Amino acid sequence: MDSSTIIATEAALEAGLYPKRPVAIVRGEGARLWDADGRMFLDCVGGQGAANLGHSHPAIVAAIQQQASSLISCPEIFHNDQRAAYLSALTAALPFPARVFLCNSGAEAVEASLKFARLLTGRTRIVAAMRGFHGRTMGALSATWEPKYREPFAPLVPDFQHVPFDDVEALGEAVNSDTAAVLLEPVQGEGGVRPASPGYLALVRRICDESGALLLVDEVQTGFGRTGKLFAIEHSRATDGCGSSARTAWPATASHARHHFWWRATGVCRCAGRPSRHANRRTAAPGRRKRRMAAGTAAGAQGSVDSRGARGGPAGGH
Ligand SMILES: Cc1ncc(COP(=O)(O)O)c(C=O)c1O
Repeated sequence: MDSSTIIATEAALEAGLYPKRPVAIVRGEGARLWDADGRMFLDCVGGQGAANLGHSHPAIVAAIQQQASSLISCPEIFHNDQRAAYLSALTAALPFPARVFLCNSGAEAVEASLKFARLLTGRTRIVAAMRGFHGRTMGALSATWEPKYREPFAPLVPDFQHVPFDDVEALGEAVNSDTAAVLLEPVQGEGGVRPASPGYLALVRRICDESGALLLVDEVQTGFGRTGKLFAIEHSRATDGCGSSARTAWPATASHARHHFWWRATGVCRCAGRPSRHANRRTAAPGRRKRRMAAGTAAGAQGSVDSRGARGGPAGGH
């Protein structure tokens, strides 16, 4: 298909939710892209944070090919070598001992951390930031601030409050003993690339600790090296006990290992178990860094498994 056929086909058949540039990308190599007519572009989009490692690196291609020829999918109701290896590499690289929920998108990672927060605290109030963006599923959208994204879908999930970003005083006034969690981006992305002031997240951490709320850090844009550290929270003293989510190449929600019963909230997610994804992720996994590994194995390794994969917690998809 040439560019004009691709563009016309998508224009006619897609739901049309995204405004698109009139370019039909068909191939990539490193930081370069080519359209269907052979024009070359420098990729300044990087998959909107999902292609930090560039396009078609031979090691990643080989890992995907190798996995595809041995096992295409393995749902979470079974154990899997690639998932175990990936979880080991990921938790070793995280700045806190963690257990991990693997998922498919940034919104799903945020959604999961909101559900973990409700479950762990027994509270429902979430404090998020003005200009914050967390995704377009109903929970993540409720935490997102921009009215043009929210208003068409009202009423949204109740009990979300937005305070000015980087304003410790406003946050301190909003957080109380009803607050389940504070959800923040270390650097607001969609909101205009606004980094928090040095020290802000550490103070937020303290406010959360004082009121028994969780701190949920959305690292969908900032994770995996984009701010000079593997995770942006590593620039601050806010890391201990954080829940964090990241999309960059591997959507996941990591929860501090002390919340060891968080898996009850996850339900079952079919695509997340695909070994070919883990083979890709593991090849690209950052870090031989000496981190404390999460205690035990993947979430829910204890207990019996019924035919739906339930381990005593609720089964069923998101
Ligand atoms: C900070 C942040 N959180 C969450 C999301 C949602 O991620 P996804 O589009 O993968 O659902 C985005 C998307 O750009 C984001 O920038």
